[in-house]
Amino acid sequence: MSRRAELYTLIRSAKAHLELAQVGPIPGVRPASQEERDVFDEVLAARRVRKTQAMREALDFERPKAAEPKPTAVAPRPSGSKSVPLWEQFGSKPKEIFASATAELEELWAPEDDHATRLLKIRENLGDCKRCGLCETRKKIVFGEGSPTARLMFVGEGPGYNEDIQGRPFVGKAGELLDKMIEAMGLKREDVYIANTVKCRPPEDRNPAPDEIAKCRPFIMQQVRAIEPEVIVGLGRFGTNVLLDQDKSITQIRGTWQDFDGIALMPTFHPAYLLRNPGAKRDAWADLQAVMKKLGLSN
Ligand code: URA
Repeated sequence: MSRRAELYTLIRSAKAHLELAQVGPIPGVRPASQEERDVFDEVLAARRVRKTQAMREALDFERPKAAEPKPTAVAPRPSGSKSVPLWEQFGSKPKEIFASATAELEELWAPEDDHATRLLKIRENLGDCKRCGLCETRKKIVFGEGSPTARLMFVGEGPGYNEDIQGRPFVGKAGELLDKMIEAMGLKREDVYIANTVKCRPPEDRNPAPDEIAKCRPFIMQQVRAIEPEVIVGLGRFGTNVLLDQDKSITQIRGTWQDFDGIALMPTFHPAYLLRNPGAKRDAWADLQAVMKKLGLSN
């Protein structure tokens, strides 16, 4: 076939594809029949399933075997670690903070504000935050990003090196894995909302301190209120325990539905932990599958 004929064939099939995808009437192309459209939709759906499957395999998430018994014993805490609940260390239970954060919002928000406007107002209120010492070493505030109308929200711990430079959550190695986890669920990063319990990077990536969390926590509470997701995934100990009035090891509570003021919260392993412990991906995948089921995303 000559180059010109090849080009014509290519243009014809591109036009036919656009017609089937119902982009609009394409000049010179006969409208596709319903039967042709059904076949096209089936092929697309099958391709989507194959792509999701390939991503899951790339992630090495194995489907949990039904008959496998769950480990019952929980690894003992390292000696010297405190078992004082996080909320006691901070001085007030999260639900009380939730209530006060919401009260503050009532002044901030107008009844007609949509989710995006609410988020903008929270960001404005956060301003060039100097509420705790983390402002001295941070480069950028990492507020959070994603769809203001997301049905699913991920809450991590706090920004690391890359996030601090870019001002965006989960953009380093852990972020790459989180992206794969989201894609394995059949979603895109833009479909969900991602935020952290603290908005500024703790120096040398240490754990956020109780006073830093206490100062920053109203903002994550407000973000949850603004977005009103159907499900929250708590990533790791901080992403989970800061929202709940308990301080349990993530190994103990992962995979068990929690209630966060009427919103279903699924605790799972933090992607950074999964990078260090790839064997735990199977459990994380089981947790995400439970989330998919709740959101009606399972195929
Ligand atoms: N780890 C987190 O908890 N949050 C980020 O944004 C990046 C890494």
